[in-house]
Amino acid sequence: MIVLGLETSCDETGLALYDSKTGLRGQVLYSQIKLHAEYGGVVPELASRDHVRKLIPLINQLLEQSGVKKSEIDAIAYTRGPGLMGALMTGALFGRSLAFALNKPAIGVHHMEGHMLAPLLSANPPEFPFVALLVSGGHTQLMAAYGIGQYEMLGESIDDAAGEAFDKVAKMMELPYPGGPSIARLAEQGDSKAFDFPRPMLHQGLDFSFSGLKTSVSNQLKKVQGQQREEDIAASFQEALVDTLVKKSVKALKQTGLKRLVIAGGVSANQRLRQRLEADLKKMNAQVYYAEPALCTDNGAMIAFAGYQRLKGGQQDGLSVTTTPRWPMTELSAPADQSEATEEN
Ligand code: KG4
Ligand code: ZN
Repeated sequence: MIVLGLETSCDETGLALYDSKTGLRGQVLYSQIKLHAEYGGVVPELASRDHVRKLIPLINQLLEQSGVKKSEIDAIAYTRGPGLMGALMTGALFGRSLAFALNKPAIGVHHMEGHMLAPLLSANPPEFPFVALLVSGGHTQLMAAYGIGQYEMLGESIDDAAGEAFDKVAKMMELPYPGGPSIARLAEQGDSKAFDFPRPMLHQGLDFSFSGLKTSVSNQLKKVQGQQREEDIAASFQEALVDTLVKKSVKALKQTGLKRLVIAGGVSANQRLRQRLEADLKKMNAQVYYAEPALCTDNGAMIAFAGYQRLKGGQQDGLSVTTTPRWPMTELSAPADQSEATEEN
């Protein structure tokens, strides 16, 4: 089965073709970073309009580069939510209409489930069950995953998401958007022990809070000046945030008794987070899994793959188009006939 995946929930137009026999056949991505850069964050209306402009040229490019004909597409998966309403509508309407024209099934996919399953596309895929640390620009969640659609929320951020904290601190430091990669780059030159920033809620369950850390960095920025200090602040901030993510992940593994941790979402591309998890999990005989960097941030491949997991069991959506800007992942259910699902058709 060849599934076309469409991701348009935020500021990336991502399209990909996933072939259940051979894996990824091709992917294209257009990032709107430059469009939003002067505003220091994503402007929803500009995002929607740009997705509309890019979807047709991108699908033509994808078909051409992968050598797949439109008639060979067996199903279409698009991001249904969570995300920006207007942006979601563009991909959902495009995907649903194209599926109608081709007389093929279509399905709306949960964006965070897409992120969480992306590591399954890697050379060393994790098996269920596992704990998932989902860290993106909008979400920070620890989830126990027992199978497709069988998720239990263990903890989440009560204020800013991890990626959002990176983005806000970068903005305070006048670094380019998105903030994660900018901070990580600056942090490489800095001393992570220079400032002892708070690790909020470290000893309270599995929820997260990053707004106090952000305020603390803001206060420190007002006090100190100079390039070296900026690098030290970036390194110390990254360390505080990573330290919190690592300790809570370890706690979640202990609490559930699971030995596999999957990290996903934009922040899972962070090298320091990966290093720290590799080291700490090794000590407890557990293993960390992640996707290649291009599949950590938003992309069409994760949507095609997550869509396939449900389509293969016969699940599909009707002709009406539904977008769900707010959509808790725990509302998902397992595909109806998962056990009987055949690999191919
Ligand atoms: O998953 P994603 O692409 O989009 C959402 O679904 O939100 O995540 C984007 C977030 C941004 O906040 C960005 O700053 C962060 O991921 N990010 C990183 C890195 N790369 C992207 N954060 C830390 N280190 C990175 N290397
Ligand atoms: Zn995302």
